[in-house]
Order: sequence, then C-alpha cells, then structure tokens
Amino acid sequence: MSLDPDASELALPEGSAAEMPAEALARNRAFMRREAPKLASDWMQVDIYKARIEAIDLAMVERLHELTVSVFWPHRAPDIALMVGLGKGYIALDEIGRPLSSAMGFPSADDFTMLGMMVTTPRLQAQGTGGRLLRRVMREHAGRDMRLSATREGYRLYESAGFTPVGLVSQHQGVARRIRRPDTLPGLVLRPMEPGDLEAVQALDAHAYGATRDRILDALLAVSEVLVAERGGAVEGYAMIRNFGKGRVIGPLVAEQDTVALQLAAEFILAHEGQFLRLDTIIDSDGFEAFLSAAGLGVYDTVTDMRYGRRRRALSGPLTYGLAMQSLG
Ligand SMILES: CC(C)(COP(=O)(O)OP(=O)(O)OC[C@H]1O[C@@H](n2cnc3c(N)ncnc32)[C@H](O)[C@@H]1OP(=O)(O)O)[C@@H](O)C(=O)NCCC(=O)NCCS
Repeated sequence: MSLDPDASELALPEGSAAEMPAEALARNRAFMRREAPKLASDWMQVDIYKARIEAIDLAMVERLHELTVSVFWPHRAPDIALMVGLGKGYIALDEIGRPLSSAMGFPSADDFTMLGMMVTTPRLQAQGTGGRLLRRVMREHAGRDMRLSATREGYRLYESAGFTPVGLVSQHQGVARRIRRPDTLPGLVLRPMEPGDLEAVQALDAHAYGATRDRILDALLAVSEVLVAERGGAVEGYAMIRNFGKGRVIGPLVAEQDTVALQLAAEFILAHEGQFLRLDTIIDSDGFEAFLSAAGLGVYDTVTDMRYGRRRRALSGPLTYGLAMQSLG
C-alpha cells in the first residue's frame, strides 16, 4: 500500500483496491491531484472571499450549525456538538469568521471511516470549496475504507472523488400514528438495555456496520434510550432513540431479521404516538417500509450509500435497519 497520493489513488487497506471498479480508482487519482500546489496552505479564494481553513472543534459548533441551517438540514446545536465530539474535520471561514464550507470524517476501528457534515453555503456552491475540503479529509484518512451518505447535490462530487454507489438510504419520517403491534417470534422479549448487554450490542453493531465503533456507540448510548431484543438468552437486536432535529430519531437499529426489527421499531413508535419521528434505513424490505409508512413514517427522501474501498456493511446476519444518522452511518 502506498501513502503517496501522487503515486497512485488514495491508499486503502490491504485488498480493498481490488474490490473497487478501476474507473472509480482512476477518478480518485484525478481528484486527489486536482488541487494546485500553491493552494496547499490554509488559505483559499472563494469567489470574492479570502477564506481560511480551520480544524473543527467544539468552539465551532455554532458556525457549523449556521452552515447546516443554510442548507435546511434539521440538526439542532446539540446534534452538531455530538458530531463534532466524534469526528475530525475542517471548516472554511471568511475574513470576518463567517462559515463558508465544511467536511468531516468519523473514523472507527483503524481501517474505516465515515465521511459527513459536508456543506457549502448555497451562494458559494460549485466553486471547488467542497471538493477541496473533501480532498483534505480523504487524505487525512488515507489507508482506511470510506463510506458516506450522498445527497443528490453531493453525488457528482463524491463520484468524481472515486466513491461508488452501494445502495439507497430511505429517510422515513413523520408524526407517529397508532399501529397494531406486529406479529412477534415465540420467546422474543424486548427490554431496556442493561450494562451486561454492552458486549452483545457492540458485536451486533460491528457485524452490521462493518467496523468496530465503540467510542461512537458510547456517545450515542449516553444520549439515547436503548432497547434490546432477547431470545433464548441471546441478544438478537438492539435499537436506540434520541432527540434529533425536529423530533426524535430511531437508530442505530440492528437486527437479524425483519420481525425483530419491526418489534424494536414498533415499541418506540407506540411510545411516541403523535410525535415527530425519523428512521433512516438501508434495508430494502417491503415489509419494513410498509410498516413504517403505516405508522406515519413515510419516505421523505433518499440518499445514496457510497463507498471508497471495500464494501463493509453486512449482507447477512445482523443488519443495520436504522442509521444513527446519515453522516454517521
Ligand atoms: C455537496 C456540496 C457540499 C458540494 O460543495 P461545493 O463547494 O459546491 O463543491 P464543489 O464546488 O467542489 O463542487 C463539486 C461538484 O459538485 C457540483 N455541484 C456543486 N453544487 C451542486 C448542486 N447544488 N447541484 C448539483 N451539483 C452541484 C459541482 O458542479 C462540482 O462538479 P464538477 O467538479 O464536476 O464541476 C454542496 O453542494 C452542498 O452543501 N449541498 C447541500 C448540502 C449537501 O447536500 N451536502 C452533502 C451531504 S452528503
């Protein structure tokens, strides 16, 4: 594996490049080289603005929030603070400190990272700013497989950076309606998570997500209500719900089969009737989708799950029925 981005495409873990389409690797090579050497400093010209690039830390929450509001994302300031605490990234600010653009990476394990929180203020889009910050974040996470949830506006940029589509993420949301509790499995019990369940929850999540993300899970556990689904003494699934955006988000939700996922989701939906709920899923299941829609959580939008490197998400066994949020996967 080479760490010199000029010598080849951006480095990936052993064996990952072989799982990428050759054209995507070629696009990545071109993308990584696009930056003119004189722009390698922390200053850049964006339209009439001279912008400086700064690392994102907790002091930047308000500015990052301004950016996400400018593109109508629903995040509240605490949602942004949670992300900032979990990742590393950059924000471009003009000379009087106004935010112009941002990009972040959320590494987990030592060979994987999610990318997200990519925003350029609408007036300054399509001028190369997002691409430049993305290049910087990708370079910093060289040697890892990468994944992101691409909006329609972002798709072209990520494709030109070498990302390749994996599947669709459906963003379900709405005001929760009373539903009939779905049929369950004999012996399946739902109960609040206890400290002794942590290892099982981490293992389910690592399988489904494709990487161990204990630090991210710890942060989510600290702000979420958590249920586990147990059968015959084994934890077969878990689900979290927390405040997010306009209401609450159900996720992560990991289960081995639709029936277990439906039970977990139903428990939270029934407990929040009349409230705004959201669930982002990558599972292509008519049953799961019909159930969510019947519960008032229709499909509001879709984004594309994209990878640079190996496909890491599980295709069998425990699967991710609900994302923590699009930027975290
Ligand atoms: C996606 C986004 C961050 C890109 O930032 P940017 O500063 O415009 O990026 P760049 O100027 O480097 O543009 C990269 C490419 O995207 C294209 N692009 C930029 N904005 C676009 C838009 N609104 N619609 C369609 N394409 C767009 C550019 O033409 C460019 O393509 P090219 O290199 O083939 O010419 C920005 O459009 C944005 O903030 N969108 C709203 C929020 C969002 O969807 N974020 C992505 C989350 S995954």
